[in-house]
Amino acid sequence: MKALIAAGGKATRLRPITWTHNKHVIPMANKPMLWYPIKKIVEAGITEIIINVNPGEIQYMAEHLGDGSEFGATIKYVEQRGGAKGLAHVVANAEEHLKGERFLFFLGDNIILGSIKKFVDRFQAEQLDCMIALSHVKDPNRFGVAEFHPDGSLKRTVEKPKDPPSPFAVTGIYLFDEKFFEAFKQVQPSARGEYEITDVITWYIENARVGHEIITGWWKDTGTPDALIEGNALIMDDLARESFSIDCEVPKEAEIQGLVSIGKGTVISPDCLIRGPVVIGENCQISSSYIGPYTSIGNNVRIHQTEVEHSIIFKDASIDTTNRIVNSLIGVGATLVDYKRSHPKTGHRLVIGDNSFVEL
Ligand code: G1P
Repeated sequence: MKALIAAGGKATRLRPITWTHNKHVIPMANKPMLWYPIKKIVEAGITEIIINVNPGEIQYMAEHLGDGSEFGATIKYVEQRGGAKGLAHVVANAEEHLKGERFLFFLGDNIILGSIKKFVDRFQAEQLDCMIALSHVKDPNRFGVAEFHPDGSLKRTVEKPKDPPSPFAVTGIYLFDEKFFEAFKQVQPSARGEYEITDVITWYIENARVGHEIITGWWKDTGTPDALIEGNALIMDDLARESFSIDCEVPKEAEIQGLVSIGKGTVISPDCLIRGPVVIGENCQISSSYIGPYTSIGNNVRIHQTEVEHSIIFKDASIDTTNRIVNSLIGVGATLVDYKRSHPKTGHRLVIGDNSFVEL
């Protein structure tokens, strides 16, 4: 089997971060977001992976994720052609790589906690034509939704219905056989001008054998900074205990509590308290500071006399403030300091990029 990962789009609600980063490589617990689906795909026994990217982004994405050898897999990057025309079109765009194959389609902004192996194994063992993963949600109208017959079998799936026929969202993890491209030809663009993946699934329900599983550990990034920080926290909770390690000298006076990772070359001063889960990169300097739960800090970050909690700090940032930083995204190379000049006595001095969000 092969796997296709969708990693295109503009993620406008995450600006200014997404002016310079594709959302799918934003660091989550210090690894690009797509690192986690790739790991799970390989664990499920699929090692030929295709990643659909925005036009012009192949090299950039490859710099973050490589050629797959790190995962014991091969990764091919495919540019989205013909504009953004919906998820079914993303698959059709990769037809030359998937033709005649049974494949997994994974939306790169969906985080699945736990293994997907059971899901893939059942699709293969029962030789199903299609399989979908459903999740019970409070707000089904934001998703593709499953509708069932009275006997509990699938009737159809419908995209973002105003009046949802069930509370079961179709998550961004799908398995299809080679009939996908035949089904795609039957699907017309929806009112929003997209080839909906839910219409392809409905075709499968009407013409082939479709299985479904209800999954619990699912997180769907709604594309906002708060959601991203929540996703970062969920990933840290999902990380195995043994993936946390301290690879530098930490003075014995410094307090390290819970699951904490610290990279090579990082210097922690004796008067620090680090309360996990926390992931700190390489060559950072952390002094006189408190780093609280669910914080991830990239490489070469400097933090002095600051309290930071539940935040994502990108590489090369520098923070030196007596304010407490919470629920924040701090971009690459950003500087955060206290205002120390005498005139005027109060006020905040800001250099803020386009579409930034600041709460003072
Ligand atoms: C897409 C699909 C939708 C699915 C969701 C899961 O929606 O169209 O059926 O439930 O992903 O993440 P989008 O997030 O593109 O609006």
